[in-house]
Amino acid sequence: MMRPIPLGPVAIRCAFGVASCAYALAGSFSLTAYAVQVRSVTEGVYSSGQAARGQQIYRVECAECHGTAMEGASGPPLVGESFLSNWSARPLANLVDKIQKTMPFNLPGSLSRPQSTDLAADILRAGRFPAGPVDLSDAMLAEVAFPAAGVSPSPAPAISAGTSLPPPEGNLAELMRAIAFPNSNIIFNLQLKDPGAQPKRKPASAPFDYVEWGSNEYPGWLAVDQAAVALTETAALLLTPGRRCQNGRPVPVDHADWKGFVAALVEAGKLAHRASQARNYEAFIDISDKLNDACANCHKVYRDKGGTEGSGAARCQ
Ligand code: HEC
Ligand code: HEC
Repeated sequence: MMRPIPLGPVAIRCAFGVASCAYALAGSFSLTAYAVQVRSVTEGVYSSGQAARGQQIYRVECAECHGTAMEGASGPPLVGESFLSNWSARPLANLVDKIQKTMPFNLPGSLSRPQSTDLAADILRAGRFPAGPVDLSDAMLAEVAFPAAGVSPSPAPAISAGTSLPPPEGNLAELMRAIAFPNSNIIFNLQLKDPGAQPKRKPASAPFDYVEWGSNEYPGWLAVDQAAVALTETAALLLTPGRRCQNGRPVPVDHADWKGFVAALVEAGKLAHRASQARNYEAFIDISDKLNDACANCHKVYRDKGGTEGSGAARCQ
């Protein structure tokens, strides 16, 4: 299934000159997008027969998570305002890629290109975009775009006059997996091994691996210091307005108990930072418990309520 990615001259240059390379790619992408996006999904770009084919796949492969009418369940809605603003002005090719490469969430890569295109047609039908005389073809995908949404649902929150933050990029689950999960594991690991007793650096293995190299660069207590900072500072991101949960519901940043759970995480993070700076290994028995409670108490109410982890539809309310 997995194909190795051939490293052509451009890819190799990217690996060693990330900044200039990202700039070059972004430049060429926007030029292409500008040149070819000429039609809107409002112009009858799929056929009703195609949407019906898509609907048959949808019922079997997608409805369980996205709801029978695409209203959202454990997965986000595929119709309505928040969906349209996610896809604002983006070409249909992106939607078909998203479906083909990442869905079904639990079995990605199992759909063919034509099936994914039929599913996109069904999503257009459900969104009340009109059908036309011919099927949406693979060749057309890059040339048809969603309408530009009028208002952004996640405006940059104003912090104080003249200052604003960029709107959130990830959903809450992605944020949890990116920051809370790996960093709390570094702290929980202290129950198993003393960071002061760990070897300072492991010899690099071949072939070179950035992640492996990086994970050895700040070893022992340094890694614990950093994890404590990351956990403490992720609190602000858990309170950022405009973020959504994986199921499409807004993160309940204005609920009093949510704020309380976030405050408990900050407290555990600060204790961990202080103890780590003091290289106080013994303190972490208690801190691991506090941290574990900070995660679990919030999860009990906002994540795991509706059933087992991952069932999802009742999250974040
Ligand atoms: C096991 C649950 C599950 C199944 C089955 C599933 N999805 Fe998803 N889907 C999700 C979750 C969770 C997300 C949000 C995370 C993400 O975007 O990757 C999502 C996101 C999406 C998005 C992006 C929505 C947006 O607003 O950007 C699309 C489109 C989508 N799914 C289509 C499909 C289609 C089509 C199928 C069936 C082939 C399908 N999904 C099956 C759980 C599921
Ligand atoms: C203030 C509440 C809150 C706190 C504190 C919190 N979480 Fe979460 N966490 C959630 C919610 C809600 C979700 C579900 C997000 C979604 O579905 O988009 C979640 C999801 C996750 C996930 C993804 C699991 C999945 O099923 O997708 C992981 C991993 C996770 N949290 C780890 C942690 C860890 C580790 C901590 C403690 C260091 C922590 N969380 C603290 C509310 C919280």
